[in-house]
Amino acid sequence: MSVLSVRDLAVDLMTGAGVIRAVDGISFDIDAGETVTIIGESGSGKSTTAMALLRLLPDDLAVITGHAEIAGRDVAGTRKHIGALRGRTVALIPQDPMTALNPIATIGRQMVEAIRISNRGLSRTDATRKAVGLLRDVHIKEPERRLKAYPHQLSGGQLQRVLIAMALSTGAELIVADEPTSALDVTVQAGILDLLLEIQETTGAALLLITHDLGVARLMSDRIHVMKAGQFVESGDVEDVIGNPAHEYTRTLLDALPSVGPWEEVPV
Ligand SMILES: Nc1ncnc2c1ncn2[C@@H]1O[C@H](COP(=O)(O)OP(=O)(O)OP(=O)(O)O)[C@@H](O)[C@H]1O
Ligand SMILES: [Mg+2]
Repeated sequence: MSVLSVRDLAVDLMTGAGVIRAVDGISFDIDAGETVTIIGESGSGKSTTAMALLRLLPDDLAVITGHAEIAGRDVAGTRKHIGALRGRTVALIPQDPMTALNPIATIGRQMVEAIRISNRGLSRTDATRKAVGLLRDVHIKEPERRLKAYPHQLSGGQLQRVLIAMALSTGAELIVADEPTSALDVTVQAGILDLLLEIQETTGAALLLITHDLGVARLMSDRIHVMKAGQFVESGDVEDVIGNPAHEYTRTLLDALPSVGPWEEVPV
């Protein structure tokens, strides 16, 4: 059974300027251990898709139609299940790690709280021990010291590692990552992507990745869906889509990708 299954999902946004069909009838599945990427230009509906699946759009802003199931639970037709799924079965890794944490609480306090929500009955001491282990898993040095720090004392890359650790703490079956590296320095982006791949290998989680970067999509995905104006204009195995783009729009995205030529002799 797919961890995420989406059929004919549509999202209408009620804006001051009228109704915008931001997502217009998309269908896809993600199995355990798979990475599926939605790629597309700004405004194509990628984030709206993710936010709709997590039911993070207010009802007076968004009307969702179609079908979507996370771990077999309906999340499109009703809000009934998403509360229990969020922070346990499904975890969100945000675009901007700087604003995702509470600035006035220590990393340790926020991690311990998240851990105790998904592991009821766990003592504070055991939750702290678990937090230390999780920070080690995401390759943060001196985890005991980091737990006492406040968000502003960590770099963007370290904060994103903390948020990934929090996603891990819940034992998520589905991780949704909306542009997880776009707010970070290029020098730390590769490290975060590596970490996501490593985590997926060890936990077998399904990953829904959103990016506008074809290089990232190529590195990470089993399948990609190219999104334009709320629809998937092309879908398939990442190498097939990149190697033989059927759609003009995909070719435009490809053109934005720096081509990797043969090694050149560097004169010394
Ligand atoms: N809160 C909102 N109110 C009104 N319109 C919105 C809102 N959020 C998104 N939209 C509109 O919905 C459409 C899809 O936006 P969305 O944020 O999903 O795109 P995206 O693919 O994530 O873009 P980006 O790459 O810039 O993050 C756009 O036309 C956008 O203007
Ligand atoms: Mg977006």
